Amino acid sequence: MIESSDLRMKRIPLSHGAGHMPALGFGTLIPDAAVTITATRDALEAGFRHFDCAERYGNEREVGKALQAGLAAFGIAREDIFVTTKLWNSNHRPERVEPAFEASLQRLRLAYLDLYLIHTPFAFQPGDEQDPRDQNGNVLYDREVTLLDTWKAMESLVDHGKCRAIGLSDITLDGLKPIYESARIKPAVVQVESHPYLPETELLEFCKEKGIVLLAFAPLGHGMKPGLLEDPVISAVAARVGKTPAQVLLAWAVQRGTALLTTPRTAARARENFDISALPAEALDEINKIQTRQRLNPVVSTGVPGFIPQVK
Ligand SMILES: NC(=O)c1ccc[n+]([C@@H]2O[C@H](COP(=O)([O-])OP(=O)(O)OC[C@H]3O[C@@H](n4cnc5c(N)ncnc54)[C@H](OP(=O)(O)O)[C@@H]3O)[C@@H](O)[C@H]2O)c1
Repeated sequence: MIESSDLRMKRIPLSHGAGHMPALGFGTLIPDAAVTITATRDALEAGFRHFDCAERYGNEREVGKALQAGLAAFGIAREDIFVTTKLWNSNHRPERVEPAFEASLQRLRLAYLDLYLIHTPFAFQPGDEQDPRDQNGNVLYDREVTLLDTWKAMESLVDHGKCRAIGLSDITLDGLKPIYESARIKPAVVQVESHPYLPETELLEFCKEKGIVLLAFAPLGHGMKPGLLEDPVISAVAARVGKTPAQVLLAWAVQRGTALLTTPRTAARARENFDISALPAEALDEINKIQTRQRLNPVVSTGVPGFIPQVK
C-alpha cells in the first residue's frame, strides 16, 4: 500500500495548539556565511517552509537576511514559514534565557519564533564564551543549574507570547521523561540524531504516545561515506522506485512519523531533497530491517557538537 498524501506538504500538529511543523525541514548548520545565504534562499525557492537554526551555528544573521529577502522575493508570508532556533549550553542559567532568545530573534530579524529548543541538556559555564575550557582543554560544565531550571525559563517565553512552542535537543529518553513529568508546558518537539542506523524506536514511541514531535537530524547520516547514502538496501530501494538514495532516506523518515532536517547547499540538491514521494510498504519494511547500528554525533553524551562551522 502506498500512502496517498503528498509527503512534501506534510505538516505535523504540535501539542497545546502551537501550530503545525512542516515535516520536511531545512537545517542551517552551514560553515560558510555566503553559502548560508544562498542555500537558505534556494531551500525556500525549492519549497522548504521549515528552517532550523541555532545560536551556536554563528550564522543566524545570514539566515535572517536570506529569509527576509526570500520571503519578499517569492511572496511568502512570515506565517507560512516555521522557524526554530536553539539556546546554547552557556546560556542555561534562567536569567540568561530571555536575553539569549531576544538576541536570536534580533539576528534572525523575526518578531516571534515558532519553536525554541534547549540545544543540549548540558549546561556549560555561563557567559559569552560558547566553548569554555580549563587549561587542560576540558569542558567547564555548570553544576549550579538544572535542566528543569532552564526549562521553567523556557516556559516563561511561551507565556510572554514571542515563542509558540518549546522543546529539547540531543536528549535521551531517560533525560526526557523527568522533564516531561515536571513540565508545566510539555516539550512539543525533541530534535535528535535519527536514521535507519539509529532509528530511536523507543524514543519515537514515547513521543508518539505523548504527542511530541521527533525531529530527526542526520537523516542522510551527515552525508558520511561509506554510510547510509551507499547502503545496499537503500540503493536497491532507490533503483526500484526511481528515486535517489537521499530521497529514499528522507521519505522513510517522514513516513515513520518524524519530522526531519536536511542541509542541501545547492539549488539542485534543495530541489532533490524536497522532491520526495511515498515509498511502498515493503520498501519501508526492508529499511526497518537494516541491522547496522551507528551513532554519528557524540553531542548527546557531552554537549560538545560533532562539528561547528566557522562563519567567515
Ligand atoms: N541538534 C543537534 O545537535 C544537531 C546536530 C547536527 C545537525 N543538526 C541540524 O540538522 C541539520 C541537518 O544536518 P545533517 O548534517 O544532519 O544533514 P544531512 O542532510 O544528514 O547531511 C548533510 C550532508 O549530506 C550531504 N547531502 C545533502 N543532500 C544530499 C543529497 N541529495 N545527496 C547526497 N548527499 C547529500 C551534504 O553534502 P554536501 O556537503 O556536499 O552539501 C552534507 O554532507 C543541520 O543543518 C542542523 O540544523 C542538529
